[in-house]
Amino acid sequence: MTSNRITPATGGPTLNDFTGDSFLRRAGRQLVVTLYGAMRVIRLYPPENEAVRNALDELATTARTILEKEGELECRASSEFIFVNSTRLRLDLDNYASFSQILSTLRACGVGSFRVLPEARSRDWLVFLSLLMAEAKAGNELTTGELLGKLEGAGVTSFDLGPQQHADDSDFQERAKEAAKRTYAQSVAVTRDVINSVRMGQAPSIRKIKRVVQGIVDQILNEETSLLGLTTIRDYDEYTFTHSVNVCIFSVALGRRLGLSKLQLYDLGLAALFHDLGKSRVPLSVLNKTDGLTDDDWRWLAAHPWLGVLALFHMRGQQELPYRAMVVAVEHHMKMDLTGYPKPIRPREQSIFSRIVAVADGFDAATSRRAYQTVPMSPAAVLAGMRDNPRRGMDPVVVKGFINLLGVFPVGTLVVLDTFELAIVHASNPVPEAMSRPIVRIVSDDRGNVLYPGNLVDLTEQGPSGGYKRTIIKTDTPERYGINVGDYFV
Ligand SMILES: [Fe+2]
Ligand SMILES: [Fe+2]
Repeated sequence: MTSNRITPATGGPTLNDFTGDSFLRRAGRQLVVTLYGAMRVIRLYPPENEAVRNALDELATTARTILEKEGELECRASSEFIFVNSTRLRLDLDNYASFSQILSTLRACGVGSFRVLPEARSRDWLVFLSLLMAEAKAGNELTTGELLGKLEGAGVTSFDLGPQQHADDSDFQERAKEAAKRTYAQSVAVTRDVINSVRMGQAPSIRKIKRVVQGIVDQILNEETSLLGLTTIRDYDEYTFTHSVNVCIFSVALGRRLGLSKLQLYDLGLAALFHDLGKSRVPLSVLNKTDGLTDDDWRWLAAHPWLGVLALFHMRGQQELPYRAMVVAVEHHMKMDLTGYPKPIRPREQSIFSRIVAVADGFDAATSRRAYQTVPMSPAAVLAGMRDNPRRGMDPVVVKGFINLLGVFPVGTLVVLDTFELAIVHASNPVPEAMSRPIVRIVSDDRGNVLYPGNLVDLTEQGPSGGYKRTIIKTDTPERYGINVGDYFV
């Protein structure tokens, strides 16, 4: 068995055929896979075992390939991401386990980055990884200096270690946040134009809206946390437009979790953005009513699914009709058991796109403040309802995926901590076992002083004597404390 082959023998391109960023993304991925593979076999077998030797050789070869081409190799962990020589690696479903395993091992020993020197051999990797895994398991909080000392004691000098960086001081996150804000604002503006022109009886162009959807999909494939965070703004005056954009963001992020391809995500995003297009043909006097809806008003509202199909027929500029968007428009309130509206004439099954949009729609609608809903429900309560109440008619598998995406405590939830601090959930924890320990922003100290912008903390952080530093006791409504969640995401 050869150990220096680093790409599968498919006759396809090898790593050396790529350059720059694309080389680093591929080689970095391979590094993560081989690193994870080596950690696994080291845990299972004694060092002299052949599987261990092969895995270490493969890892050392991958590292050397990067070093030869790039002249350096630094691997850095920053909150949920792994960077190789400042190129961020893409995280997707099939490398999720390796990513989170590596991130949690590094985090547990307080290592933020490691640099590999050209002389690193298989044995050095064995010592290095065994040490990290042992320290992580023991929960020892050594400094990087102490770790380096231990390596040196074992005769290994081919690694350099850097300390952990705080989650929010990375440049990358700032840039990602800016990009997300631009995408969001632009999406709302274009959606507003389209909905208003339908309302005025014009036929809007579909081309502009397609670009918006592409922007959202690309942003989510690149870095989803920032865009998901922006859905919490939920502007009351702009509800119609922000709702469409939010449902699009949630649907695309959810579709991605469920394994849809990029092209499918474009289709899904378009359908999600247009799911309520029919409402632009419902009189504003009905949409803006706060109470006392008459039978006629209800008839108007219940007509929006098929009014949406009609509106989609009138879109300009498409080669073909947005067929899937029409299906979603008509099906998104039907429910899995078809007890919703409109009532289908023949038996049918809600399409997967419709089931995804129904979950995204149900969540955004219930957590927003609208004309007839002055106090929205807490995001956690809404998720629990969708999961546990069969009458909501949601697809359990899709709901499960959604809870996985948002965490048990979705982004934007206000939580009370056992330290008497208040915090807002910023991102779900990248480690799957830590779903109940998200990354949060502390927005009020233990005496009730409001903090702005407030620090980000990871709830898996442990104190010097073991045990978690902070734990969520319960969720609460931000209104009770005069906190506006959206302020912390702009
Ligand atoms: Fe709807
Ligand atoms: Fe909706």
